[in-house]
Amino acid sequence: MNILELIKKRRSIRNYTNQQIKKTDLQEIIECGMYAPTAHNQQAREFLVTQDKEQLLRLSEHLRFGKMLPNANAAILTCFDTTKFTGVTGADFIQQDMGACTQNILLAAHEKGIGSVRIGIYPTNNPEYFLNDHF
Ligand SMILES: Cc1cc2nc3c(=O)[nH]c(=O)nc-3n(C[C@H](O)[C@H](O)[C@H](O)COP(=O)(O)O)c2cc1C
Repeated sequence: MNILELIKKRRSIRNYTNQQIKKTDLQEIIECGMYAPTAHNQQAREFLVTQDKEQLLRLSEHLRFGKMLPNANAAILTCFDTTKFTGVTGADFIQQDMGACTQNILLAAHEKGIGSVRIGIYPTNNPEYFLNDHF
């Protein structure tokens, strides 16, 4: 699939098969996230990955919009390290950095035939909207 088709055909997928996702595929998907541009090249992104069914279940219990997680084969938590923010604008740009990163991840997964969906948590200035309770 060329990049234009890939962009146009990607959709949010919330039902999954039992097919296991290879660790090498997960690594490459995250690597694609890391190729996304960042403001001032601040590169503040960090990733947590789990394929553990118990952890996926626990995540779903906390996330109001994450009820598909127990059925998923993997979750990639896209995080950022505030100590890596560049100058005074770092915090202002982090949402854009993370948006570009997440989109790359979704497209890379789609290219590999892996259905994915983005689950919104951040910003947390209204946590009761995103979380069933506090972690
Ligand atoms: C910032 C952001 C947060 C999102 N959060 C969720 C979410 O928590 N749960 C969910 O099922 N989908 C979530 N989505 C996916 C949207 O619902 C989805 O992209 C939209 O309905 C359009 O469908 P499409 O992705 O298939 O084109 C989110 C999308 C974005 C961009």
